[in-house]
Amino acid sequence: MHLGQLPLTLLALMCRDTSETCTARLHINALEGEPFFLKYCPFSPGHKNEPNTTKWLKSNDSHGEVELRSSSSPRMTLHDYVLEFWPVELDDSGSYFFQMGNHTHEWRLNVIRRSKHNCFTEKQVISKTVEVGKALQVDCNHSYYRNLVNRTALYKNCEKIENNKNPSLKKNAEFKDQGYYTCVFFLHHNGKLFHVTSTYNITIVEGHSTVIPVILGPEINHVEVELGTDVQLNCSASLNEKDHVYWNFLRDDGQDPNEHEGEEIKARTSEGKWHASRILRIENINEKNLNFSYNCTVSSEKGLDTKRFVLLIKDRGDIPGHVFTGGMITAVVISGGVVCLVIVAVIYRIDLALFYRHFMGRDETLTAVVDEIHSLIEQSRRLIIVLSTSYMFNEVKYELESGLHEALVERKIKIILIEFAPISDFTFLPQSLKLLKSHRVLKWKADKSLSYNSRFWKNLLYLMPAKMARPRRGECEAEPVLARSCP
Ligand SMILES: *[C@@H]1O[C@H](CO)[C@@H](O)[C@H](O)[C@H]1NC(C)=O
Ligand SMILES: *[C@@H]1O[C@H](CO)[C@@H](O)[C@H](O)[C@H]1NC(C)=O
Ligand SMILES: *[C@@H]1O[C@H](CO)[C@@H](O)[C@H](O)[C@H]1NC(C)=O
Ligand SMILES: *[C@@H]1O[C@H](CO)[C@@H](O)[C@H](O)[C@H]1NC(C)=O
Repeated sequence: MHLGQLPLTLLALMCRDTSETCTARLHINALEGEPFFLKYCPFSPGHKNEPNTTKWLKSNDSHGEVELRSSSSPRMTLHDYVLEFWPVELDDSGSYFFQMGNHTHEWRLNVIRRSKHNCFTEKQVISKTVEVGKALQVDCNHSYYRNLVNRTALYKNCEKIENNKNPSLKKNAEFKDQGYYTCVFFLHHNGKLFHVTSTYNITIVEGHSTVIPVILGPEINHVEVELGTDVQLNCSASLNEKDHVYWNFLRDDGQDPNEHEGEEIKARTSEGKWHASRILRIENINEKNLNFSYNCTVSSEKGLDTKRFVLLIKDRGDIPGHVFTGGMITAVVISGGVVCLVIVAVIYRIDLALFYRHFMGRDETLTAVVDEIHSLIEQSRRLIIVLSTSYMFNEVKYELESGLHEALVERKIKIILIEFAPISDFTFLPQSLKLLKSHRVLKWKADKSLSYNSRFWKNLLYLMPAKMARPRRGECEAEPVLARSCP
């Protein structure tokens, strides 16, 4: 077979992407132990004049040319245009031919030995160069085995970074992203698990854009110092690789011997930006170093940037002598006075307490009353309020309020309101009384006592808790005490 008869090889596309579904290249590498395929690229898919008898042939140094059939090897599968290996092994290396009528296509297959120590093989990597800051994308998609892929894992320098159906990496490139990215596709064939790898050698390169250099920090830096001490002025800049940072500190009469400029320190951030810094060290500061502009400059083709550093004497905030003495005397006198007052207060504490009570003290005997009222309210089931203006002194108000609280908030007792005399002005009454249901309000209309059978007393009895038998005489006091009338 003459190479001259193979026009297709001259059209070989240098496409090494996994997205290719047919194999146009002449020289092909495959990895030992992985599924592999050769697929003929039909020159003109619409061309029907070709007789469609197809044939696969293999030739190698030892065996010469042999025709391949599915029965040739259990690892080989032949379709019309495709020769599949499950998997490909080292002795599959050689030349393969696909014949269709008068057309013949050749591939030279080189099966690479699998690396024992690495998850990829260096001869089988796809190189990609990405500029720092630009989009970096690694997609794990296998167009040929797509439907067989069960699981895919993505590794960076052989360390797993993602593991799912379609792992991918998409970000703005940083220098630390440089490395080998390996997609491992796991697939099943005839009940066996295989894996196919594709590895990208990703190199991050510096961007071509230049930046306008700037000294970082404010326009003027005031640095507080003390005479006789040392100081380091740190000037840092964002710049291009070729640019420089330096200090201007020369005077008309030359340099002060205590000023020393350090080396320029330049470094690149992982985003690819250059930074530089340079120290100016001033030892044993003297008057001459003060209020002088030490200028730091960055220079580049794009221009200059300068920032100033000025040394100032540190304001120690000292207090003048006479103010200090006066302050101390005042402090001592005041603390002495306070100590004396405390001693007097301890000695005469009882007299002081009685004196205070005489003028300011409240009548504590009243609050005792209050406690009693409270406990009585707690024992009651009904609160009878007999309203009359003359009753509204403090104690009654408290009774009223706490009874209302029990009734309305805690719902322990019920209220019966008796209007003893018509009350025109209700404003002195607690707001909550207005929430009372109307059937619980009784009006006393007579001007002298009524018999026990009268409508008023029957109504009141009805509102009181039901009881089996009438209490004996003398037990009245044990009845709800807040009822001021005992029938
Ligand atoms: C990967 O890329 C780097 C940088 O371009 C190169 O130096 C290295 O040789 C490449 N590695 C392989 C295995 O091709
Ligand atoms: C992968 O294979 C396992 C075992 O054969 C199966 O249980 C699982 O459903 C498969 N997953 C996918 C996504 O095909
Ligand atoms: C000077 O400042 C830069 C930027 O802030 C910093 O990276 C560098 O370490 C500093 N140098 C010294 C000696 O402190
Ligand atoms: C620093 O810059 C200021 C303002 O531009 C200038 O007045 C001063 O002379 C400069 N100092 C030196 C040492 O060059």
